Amino acid sequence: MMKKLRTTDFRGMKERGEKIAMITAYDAAIAAIVDAAGVDVVLVGDSLGNVVQGLEDTLSVTLDEMIYHTRIVSRGVERAHLCSDMPFLSYQKSPEDAVESAGRLLKEGRAESVKLEVNDEYVDTVYRIQKAGIPVIAHIGLCPQSVHVMGGYKVQGTLPGDREVLLDLSRSCEQAGAFMVVVESVVSAVAQEITGDLDIPTVGIGSGADCDGQVLVVNDMIGLTQQSLPKFVKKYADVARTISDSTKKYVEEVKREIFPSSEYFYE
Ligand code: KIV
Repeated sequence: MMKKLRTTDFRGMKERGEKIAMITAYDAAIAAIVDAAGVDVVLVGDSLGNVVQGLEDTLSVTLDEMIYHTRIVSRGVERAHLCSDMPFLSYQKSPEDAVESAGRLLKEGRAESVKLEVNDEYVDTVYRIQKAGIPVIAHIGLCPQSVHVMGGYKVQGTLPGDREVLLDLSRSCEQAGAFMVVVESVVSAVAQEITGDLDIPTVGIGSGADCDGQVLVVNDMIGLTQQSLPKFVKKYADVARTISDSTKKYVEEVKREIFPSSEYFYE
């Protein structure tokens, strides 16, 4: 039986210089495969909207949908820590509402922590959620739920003053009790500084090699996503091609009455 990873294990990994591997999952089958392959954190991302629901952004994903996907992912995860994203408007209205939403992700979804996109406005919300006994990952840098305010998905940390804002924000998240920070699309020099400054680990996506860990969207990483991918995605496989090639073969064999041959039916 493999040792289950807990929120308290990740600081030790940072101290030992052991990198943290995080990946998203949206169903039990993929969750079981990535868990058995040794990933440390499985994230049920609200990227669900883009990669599973075929939407342009994450804004329409609901709390009930996140709870459903978290619950089915939880059935596939044994060793990894299981975190679930708080979707748009599930925590922005008030800290009380945020605690309620986060609680549902644990109670009904069986998540072990929640992640929310944080700017100065939501540092207190991080504090309130973790005080309620719910571990929190703070997501900083490019926050996809704010796409319309940011004017698109843009690299962060490039403007004068950005460095200080991001450093202050990451410190505030640590002080508010976050056990990890996800740093999205922040220029590598700033992400490196944040990582050096914090005791809690940073997990980067498009933020360079110096973060304490890395996260990718599983559909992008395995080559299932058909749309163009950001520069920071490394495609480790071409699963879209495997599905397409095998489906073409299946269709052809059905049409030509090759499938099913006798070994595939009961006599
Ligand atoms: O929603 C998501 O999948 C995420 C990761 C990309 C960090 O937030």
